[in-house]
Amino acid sequence: MRYAAGVTPTRPLILDCDPGHDDAVALALALARPELRVLAVTTVAGNAGLDRTTRNALRVLTLLGRTDVPVAAGADRPIVREPWAPVGFHGESGLDGADLPEPAVPALSVTALELATTTLRAAAEPVTIVATGPLTNVALLLRAAPGLAGRIAEISLMGGSLSQGNTTASAEFNIWADPEAAEIVFESGIPIRMAGLDVTHQALMLPPDIARLDGLGTRAGRVFADLMRFFAVHHRERYGWDGPPIHDAVAVAWLADPDLVRSERLRVDVETAGIHTRGRTVADREGLSGRPANADVGLDIDRERLIDLVVDAVGSFR
Ligand code: BDR
Ligand code: CA
Repeated sequence: MRYAAGVTPTRPLILDCDPGHDDAVALALALARPELRVLAVTTVAGNAGLDRTTRNALRVLTLLGRTDVPVAAGADRPIVREPWAPVGFHGESGLDGADLPEPAVPALSVTALELATTTLRAAAEPVTIVATGPLTNVALLLRAAPGLAGRIAEISLMGGSLSQGNTTASAEFNIWADPEAAEIVFESGIPIRMAGLDVTHQALMLPPDIARLDGLGTRAGRVFADLMRFFAVHHRERYGWDGPPIHDAVAVAWLADPDLVRSERLRVDVETAGIHTRGRTVADREGLSGRPANADVGLDIDRERLIDLVVDAVGSFR
């Protein structure tokens, strides 16, 4: 697409999420960056049950004064597998640790699938999907409306790992949670950016970064600092890290600042049959399968630049 001189091109987005502390950061970043335009938010069960992740998305939008963004709830369970018990480290609500407001508006009465299809049809140009939870909604969209695949510019997702997982030895949570959905997405032929643990475990928000959020002197700054302190506890206990990884923010920041992440184009397939390897993202680094590459896999990130983006983003809200 060509743009008139002086006009900043903005990338239209649908953010599919399961907030979640790092999803909340991803949401703030997506709303704040001038390169990005959030057309809709859809929610999925993941870090907590669907009711909670939907409420959390609405609470974050209320905090940020962006209740104009339409929100619709999607899948409350994986396509094939049994639902899982919510992970503990996001707390009872899925977004514990901060004084977030109650939602000022409800979610729409349409489903995530309906909101996504309407949004894709109405958009003047192909829309990027950012997926920061299990890929159930995205896969259902691809299956229910295959004719709309051409309306999706790319899918930037947080998920997977080329090495150790975080939910099992093999798999990262978002892919493990709904491996059949992830397989549909990785097989779709739509360009994929994969922000997996290889890169998101470098994206730590350290105590001086959290102090910068506090130092903003705003309600948003305080809330995000408190969220990060809560999220830090689990990561300190489990990994001995000084701060939590803001996994989901990487999938957004990489779109806003394409040089932020060093990546490699690889063939990535999702394990759906294994006993010990459910949801493993198998990357074919030597091209042994002869199958075409389907993903840009993030390997390294400029952590300090990411933190600057996040602090600026939070600082743009009151
Ligand atoms: C992913 O799982 C969730 O805990 C986070 O929100 C992130 O999307 C990391 O494995
Ligand atoms: Ca998430």
